[in-house]
Amino acid sequence: MRNFTYCVPTEIVFGKDTEVSCGREVKKHGGTKALIVYGGGSARRSGLLERIEKSLEEEGIAYAEFGGVKPNPGLAFAEEGVEKGIREKVDFILGVGGGSAIDTAKAIAHGVANPGIPLWDIWMKKVPLTRTTKVGVVLTIPAAGSETSDSAVLTNEVIGKKSGLGTELNRPAFAIMNPELTFTLPKYQIGCGIADIMMHTLERYFIPDQENRMTDEIAEGLLRTVIDSGRKALQNPADYDAMSELMWCGSLSHNNLTGLGRAKDFSVHKLGHALSARFDCVHGATLTAVWGSWAEYVWTNDVNRFVHYAKQVWGIEGSGEETAREGIEKTVSYFKSIGMPVSLGELGIGIQDEKTLEELAMDATMNDTVRLSVLRPLDASDVLEIFR
Ligand code: NZQ
Ligand code: ZN
Repeated sequence: MRNFTYCVPTEIVFGKDTEVSCGREVKKHGGTKALIVYGGGSARRSGLLERIEKSLEEEGIAYAEFGGVKPNPGLAFAEEGVEKGIREKVDFILGVGGGSAIDTAKAIAHGVANPGIPLWDIWMKKVPLTRTTKVGVVLTIPAAGSETSDSAVLTNEVIGKKSGLGTELNRPAFAIMNPELTFTLPKYQIGCGIADIMMHTLERYFIPDQENRMTDEIAEGLLRTVIDSGRKALQNPADYDAMSELMWCGSLSHNNLTGLGRAKDFSVHKLGHALSARFDCVHGATLTAVWGSWAEYVWTNDVNRFVHYAKQVWGIEGSGEETAREGIEKTVSYFKSIGMPVSLGELGIGIQDEKTLEELAMDATMNDTVRLSVLRPLDASDVLEIFR
């Protein structure tokens, strides 16, 4: 086990009707005026925003609103939010929705605390981030894990780059998680969420440092839970227990718990971000579209790890190459069974020309300057092969 530091300060408020405690939570964490950041309208239509507004009013918390965040949120929109936050003199940012609304809330929080500094300079770490504004979250989709993660992802539309910012200052002060809020999700979004949750653990799992049993057991238990609860949630999106499991797994999968004591990979995410930046595809779907090809490309570098995965997560008996491959096949079949694409063609972007694939490979590897994957370092030519 490698050395590690683990600190997840986000207060979790989990369960039915918990959104009514929103005002109390903002007050407890020192907020007096909040900017409510939300998406394209699902939170308004469901009545959630109204309940949140009421709860803030009951605690005497003033608020302004900033709605309209789109999936794969953009830098320009976040900058508008920063302007509004400064103009309204808010001291708290409340993200309501999924990864897109929450990441925009995190970006706005950094911008409001650092007026005059271009947000992208913060994102690219050209300017060190030393302070931010407090963020609270009301989660409506189990997926990205942004509600407790140290990361936030934005797309710079001008240069066509989707990029994450990792910093402890990205951890929200609190996360309200009521599984009932997810009942209105379309099945496709549930599938994308399941895929993203699995991937946040898989990207931490296929790493050579294997003497790490507790972390392995947590990761494998989480994957089995997501696989099983995911099936149930898709059968009945109003299954409270299944959605509860998914929601909790979503947070645990991406707050670093499932990878403690070993390196991280996130190479499949780099490929996914290149696809989303260019084609605006849904995040979870980009991951399943390439994971099988990635696994096929790297598995021979650590057959035993893939065998261990096949046994522990999919209950496959056996050893050797056949078992390793069976584990990969089971994973890809599961993605199909939950309605996710497992190739670029199925992702619906219809790439045919080699030039586009080459550009995507360059995007994913920062112009061939970084090597992806710990099991088998991948340069742009390897990534091109995976995309092909
Ligand atoms: O915008 P609204 O109208 O709210 O609709 C959203 C959106 O269309 C809808 N939705 C959310 N909750 C709903 C609902 N519809 C009905 N009922 C509900 N209860 O779902 C759609 C997707 O929402 P979005 O926030 O984009 O989903 P997700 O949570 O998957 O977030 C994806 C974003 O997070 C980033 C991704 O790259 C992507 O930009 N990620 C963030 C991470 C982080 N901060 O740690 C890590 C991840 O790896 C990921 O990269
Ligand atoms: Zn992800």
